[in-house]
Amino acid sequence: MIHGTCKKWLMAVALGIMIGEAVAQVNHVEPPLMGWSSWNTYRVNISEDLIKKQADAMISQGLNEVGYRYVNIDDGFFGYRDEKGVLHTHPERFPNGMKVVADYIHSLGLKAGIYSEAGANTCGSIWDADKNGIGVGLYGFERQDANLFFNDWGFDFIKIDYCGAGQQLDLDEQERYTAIVEAIREVCPRNISLNICRWAYPGTWVSGLARSWRISSDINPSWESVKYIISKNMYLSAFAGGGHYNDMDMLEIGRGLKPEEEETHFGMWCILSSPLLIGCDLTTIPEASLRLLKNPELIALNQDPLGIQAQIVQHENGGYVFVKDIREKRGKVRAVALYNPTEETCSFQVPLSLLELEGKTNVRDLVHRKDERPVDDALRFDVLPHGVKIVRVEGSRRLEPVLYEAEQAYLNGFDDLAKRKRGVAYMPFEGASGSMVVTNLGGHKENYAQWDEVFSEKGGKYKMIVRYIPVTQREREINDRRLEVTVNGTRVTLDNLETDSTQGIAQAELAVDLQKGYNVVRIGSRFTWTPDLDCFMLAPVE
Ligand code: GLA
Repeated sequence: MIHGTCKKWLMAVALGIMIGEAVAQVNHVEPPLMGWSSWNTYRVNISEDLIKKQADAMISQGLNEVGYRYVNIDDGFFGYRDEKGVLHTHPERFPNGMKVVADYIHSLGLKAGIYSEAGANTCGSIWDADKNGIGVGLYGFERQDANLFFNDWGFDFIKIDYCGAGQQLDLDEQERYTAIVEAIREVCPRNISLNICRWAYPGTWVSGLARSWRISSDINPSWESVKYIISKNMYLSAFAGGGHYNDMDMLEIGRGLKPEEEETHFGMWCILSSPLLIGCDLTTIPEASLRLLKNPELIALNQDPLGIQAQIVQHENGGYVFVKDIREKRGKVRAVALYNPTEETCSFQVPLSLLELEGKTNVRDLVHRKDERPVDDALRFDVLPHGVKIVRVEGSRRLEPVLYEAEQAYLNGFDDLAKRKRGVAYMPFEGASGSMVVTNLGGHKENYAQWDEVFSEKGGKYKMIVRYIPVTQREREINDRRLEVTVNGTRVTLDNLETDSTQGIAQAELAVDLQKGYNVVRIGSRFTWTPDLDCFMLAPVE
């Protein structure tokens, strides 16, 4: 996306300055989308008048001033497809067609979003008894509809759902979305922002096609739903980046969650770099919810020019610590979330070294917008049930990382579609670092784990320890396991692996050369499975 890049970045800069800091970042990417969408509150019961009123409210509530720009029309506008294949809008809900609506949104200085379906029948036709949703999807009408949506009507964004395509036609996701995106690119010279809605991480092909993709089934305004979606996105940070994002679904802020749950919902969507699409009625939004949605420090966290999704660095007593670089990669400023999904208060103690920081560290609470006392050894906070503490920390020195978790790697063969018998997957494992391992790795040259940013300050010789779950001798006889470790293209094969599984996690040691700066480490096994992988650690050899 070129459109709006400069303006959005300027806004992020402005927000940074508003909170009293200079933003020294040049390497920026397009940030997650911000706006409003009709689905959560209105489902298919939308109309021209309703959409215009919500667009007006975006302005009157000052949401455009803090970065919310898209007004997205979800399911419900469809009328029918005529004998020439031309799509018509709903005669009562949108009697004047969609161009007037998109024009109106644009006249307010906002951007306009539309919705369709990869198959023939919409989700609304299946789940909301919307008969007008039958036969109006993109299947077979890709070019014709793309021309209508983007050239004739002038929309800037599209969300493409998968109800008819999946439940009724059982089409292949990658093929289907590729055909649609190719058609859009052929027909429309503008850069359209595209969201793929398949309710699970669809596979690594998706970032070549879409700005964002849903990773869960639909949100609803309950704590259980918010917690479930955060859990779905915990290990997907390697798949986001470069201006492409995991979409945690539209916000349920202003729709009845408790205040601390709203903070957790918004704060976690921000630090995990999800698109921020408000889902409530903007004309009646409660004051506190509006204030939260306009919190400039959380918005700056979400719209940070690096566009990184936070990763988990600690998982203890039910609590999770997430961290990400902001403003500058490998700088001294980082954002941290202490997230407590449990029903008990969680006492967090996070050594600064875990955040790769050292020395006197300034701490600022981004939710409540206040400075905390500086620390020099650890962050210590009690977080209430369903709560989160989100802080920006600025240390005196940035440390070299020592631990690389398998569950944080880019898993080239991963998807969450549950269609493959033995797909690579995340698996909780007690005793593993981070309590999580990666299973079903290997067996094919493309089924590997990769860490693109293995960092060495000076470069040189390192001891590398790879931790894995031993496979038993018996299992090994029927299914040999190996670990192929490739560092910057140089491969070492470890095939004499531990077979005594009573000893807990096993480890293999090897010597590696790292170059100064970033290194690429890949672990897989081209012709056999690898054992389940926990992590690797690096220590410089003096
Ligand atoms: C699916 C999507 C929702 C919404 C509805 C519309 O359920 O996941 O976000 O777009 O379809 O029918």
